[in-house]
Amino acid sequence: MTTTLTLPVAVTKDLLTGAEWSPADARDLLQRSADIKARPAKYASTLCGKHIALIFEKPSLRTRVTFEVGIQSMGGFVVFLDHTQARLGERESIPDVARNLERWVQGIVARVYEQRVLDEMAGNISIPVINALSDKFHPCQALADFFTLEEKFGSLKGLKLAYVGDGNNVCHSLVFLAARLGVHLRIATPASYAPAEDVLADAKRVAKETKAKIELFTNSVEAVSGVQAFYTDSWTSMGFEAEEKLRRQVFKSYQVNRKLMGQAGPDAVFMHCLPAHRGQEVTDEVLDGPNSVVLQQSENRMYVQKAILHALFT
Ligand code: CP
Ligand code: NVA
Repeated sequence: MTTTLTLPVAVTKDLLTGAEWSPADARDLLQRSADIKARPAKYASTLCGKHIALIFEKPSLRTRVTFEVGIQSMGGFVVFLDHTQARLGERESIPDVARNLERWVQGIVARVYEQRVLDEMAGNISIPVINALSDKFHPCQALADFFTLEEKFGSLKGLKLAYVGDGNNVCHSLVFLAARLGVHLRIATPASYAPAEDVLADAKRVAKETKAKIELFTNSVEAVSGVQAFYTDSWTSMGFEAEEKLRRQVFKSYQVNRKLMGQAGPDAVFMHCLPAHRGQEVTDEVLDGPNSVVLQQSENRMYVQKAILHALFT
């Protein structure tokens, strides 16, 4: 993988959805992530003297720790605001929270229930706002996932990835990035849990330029035929807990297990953003098996997020 950083820096102030990234930006961020992973010392003062607020309305292990460690390793400071008990906007309006924060910190990383909360924050202030997961998108995750695939296969060219399960936030971000990176993504969901129309429409537009292919299936066996990588995520995302019983029924035939993995080649890798629900969307033998790259994805979250911060703050 080349590490020459000649392509454009991510263009906008914020990372709210991932639609901010052009195909060249997405490629640039992967190169930047590789350089950061190989030469962390070069980036040790990128955030020197900068304070970043982390506001989380939902629990997190990976995102919180990788942002905290990543920011500190670039010379920055973190202020963690735990909003898991009180949603943003309850005590004071979202613009008021954002306008106050802007007086003290140089950036905001936020995990929220509703995408509109991020838009409302970003629209009222001039410091960067980064999406650390919303109901609709998880861009940092998808960037780490494609970075992991590029590490694993050397190139994303000609790669076929299958996503099996819920057409959720993680799925939407995989769609956005697959479109920008020219990847062939085959998605299997129950008909009423397919990815959102507006996300697919954006991908279709971008794919004209990159030759990416996004295909939808309802049959998981059909979707995984000939792929080099499988991806699944929880059937019940945070915020949808009331539907858990129903979802367990609806998604039963979408489990990634040894039988489904057997439909692709023996070298097909298994991916999951984590946390995994063992025995639901994935079996232990697949999650802990030799083809699982879930911990590599998890580790790579830190490098891609450092790349995002580097792009937005330099
Ligand atoms: N994958 C991911 O975002 O994990 P956390 O919910 O633990 O942050
Ligand atoms: N789709 C999952 C991802 C967790 C990292 C959720 O939103 O809960």
